[in-house]
This record gives sequence, structure tokens and C-alpha cells, in this order.
Amino acid sequence: MQTEESLMYTRNWILTIAIALATCVNAAETPELGIPATETDIAQVFWSVFPDGENLPAGSGTAVEGKELFNIHCIACHGIEGAGLTAVPLVGGQGSLTDDTPLKTIGSYWPYAPTIFNYIRRSMPYIAPMSLTNDDYYAITAYLLDINGILEPGTVINAETLPKVQMPNRDGFVNAYPKVPQKYDY
Ligand code: HEC
Repeated sequence: MQTEESLMYTRNWILTIAIALATCVNAAETPELGIPATETDIAQVFWSVFPDGENLPAGSGTAVEGKELFNIHCIACHGIEGAGLTAVPLVGGQGSLTDDTPLKTIGSYWPYAPTIFNYIRRSMPYIAPMSLTNDDYYAITAYLLDINGILEPGTVINAETLPKVQMPNRDGFVNAYPKVPQKYDY
């Protein structure tokens, strides 16, 4: 038969184990690593530039500035003037899309210019995405358009001018879902 004292003892042990278990579960839920992201942190990272230029940020750049930046941050993989090396070429291929071996590049394939900015800002340089300034990304975008022969020399590329750049393959896409309203009418 258990005494009152031994009952207390047992109850205290059960409580101790319960608290220890609860602490473990809690610890697993909140590893207490890092710091919570603020609204500003999130707004800086989670935005997309759309084909019509929606969400293009402030800033600007020219092809001349972009060439210098490209030669620092991109040439190692994409080669001299974007001709390709370990990574895909970023120039050429215009008129090749109906060949047996089409070469799809920004110049030959991409239908909208603002998405070049979006892509390179979000994902390049490959080893350090989003590490450059918006001015840098505008300048590199200008350079990529320039080496593809798409830009008037000296054009300043910014939120206003980039959506106006007419890409060679702009009309090469069809809407596969004509019944679904599309923001961008291919
Ligand atoms: C360490 C190597 C590396 C560096 C440096 C690098 N890239 Fe890339 N890049 C890649 C790889 C690999 C891909 C293909 C990625 C994929 O398809 O998922 C790519 C793809 C691209 C594409 C898409 C091409 C297409 O038509 O599909 C563009 C544009 C581009 N890179 C631009 C740049 C720019 C601009 C820089 C410099 C700011 C840069 N890259 C730096 C490796 C690199």
C-alpha cells in the first residue's frame, strides 16, 4: 500500500517527465535559429518583374557599364561577350528556331525584355543571386540586349525604357489556353 508521501513522489516524477517532454516538443518547433524576417526583408526578396515591366524597381544602367560588370561577374561561365563557356550562350541563334538544332538565347527566343532583368536579378551570378544593385542589373540587361543587337547604342535602360524594347521573337509564342483570360496576350 502506498503512503501519501510516496504518492506525492510519484506525482512529482510524472510532472517532471511531462514538463521535460513538453520542452523537447517546443524546442523542436522553434529551433531558435536566425531572426524573424520583417515585412521589409520579405518585400525586398519576394517580388517578380512581369513581362510588361510591372514591379521594375528604380535605377538605370547602360550597356557600357554593363560590359564591365559582365566581365567581372558573368564571363567566367558565359564566356566572352556571352558566347557561352561552361554555361549556356546568351547571344546568337536569331533565325535558328525552325532549324533542326535551334539555338535558344535571349536574342533568339525570349519574348519580353523585362523578364531578363527579373531572371538575372533573381538567379545570377549563379553563385551569388541578388548580390548586385538594381543599377548593376539594369546595366547588365542593357549589355545583354546590346550584344544581341537589340539596343540602340547609348540607350539608358530603366523601368520606363526596358518594357519598350521590342524583342526579335516577341510574336513567336502562341497562347496555348485561348479560353483563359491572359494578362499578357501572346
Ligand atoms: C558560376 C557560373 C555562372 C555565373 C558566374 C553566371 N551564370 Fe548565368 N547561368 C549559369 C547556368 C548554369 C545557367 C543555366 C541555369 C539553368 O538553366 O537552370 C545560367 C543561365 C543564365 C541565363 C538564362 C539563359 C537562357 O536563355 O536560358 C542568363 C540570362 C544568365 N545566366 C545570365 C547571367 C548573368 C547576367 C551573369 C552575371 C551577373 C551570370 N549569368 C553569371 C551559370 C552562371
